[in-house]
Amino acid sequence: MLDHFRAGTPQGGDQVIVLLLGNCEVGARRVVPELRVVHQERKQLACNWKVYWENYSECYHCPGLHPELCRLVPVYGQGVLRPSDLPGWQPSVADDTGRPRVAPGVETWTTDGRTVLPDIPGVDSTLRAHGMVFASFTASMFIVGHSDYVRSVRIVPCGPERIELVIDWMVSADAPSLGEGQLAHLLELGRLVIEQDGRACELNQMGLRSRRHREGVLVPQEHGVWEFHEWLRGRLGVASARTT
Ligand SMILES: [Fe+2]
Repeated sequence: MLDHFRAGTPQGGDQVIVLLLGNCEVGARRVVPELRVVHQERKQLACNWKVYWENYSECYHCPGLHPELCRLVPVYGQGVLRPSDLPGWQPSVADDTGRPRVAPGVETWTTDGRTVLPDIPGVDSTLRAHGMVFASFTASMFIVGHSDYVRSVRIVPCGPERIELVIDWMVSADAPSLGEGQLAHLLELGRLVIEQDGRACELNQMGLRSRRHREGVLVPQEHGVWEFHEWLRGRLGVASARTT
């Protein structure tokens, strides 16, 4: 697993791994190094990386876009990422931090909520009750871990309106080899959600275009972005931008 991410990050890979291990909320220090990749897919999308990350960062779209996922995580069906985002939320059980929980009987994120895989070593009752734990690396990668498998999504910008997703599915290093049907079952929900989000992001990107404008505008507090653009223009030998 660690070599896998080093290979995907030519420079600074070790720092990424340190961030990864330090950012997961539950059990990651024990879980992450003991995984093996069982499948990788790449998917090109016609959208900007910011559009994709905005989609990842909210759940307003979940009830309409992800009915299958909302059956597994009921709070997503209310358009929020966690119960504590709802008005008037109060802890319902001891140590309730307001994190989302999977529906009763759901073992993992598959279309039927079932798994044939063993638990990843280090998984505890807390993770099993919640059903998932996320680690986010702003605009670059997110990882979602379940009791039996982990999925990572790397976002690689390829142009102003194009990205490539690199998606890896990982299981415990000690898990038995998966048959064709078992692998298909493992991949099905993730593929579906990625397809749903990707289509929404491409539609959003089309909605951002306007025949009246070649580019958007920056508001005053985005001066850092303007300075970056100016730095980039300088490196490319392009004239400075207008400021009014
Ligand atoms: Fe989504």
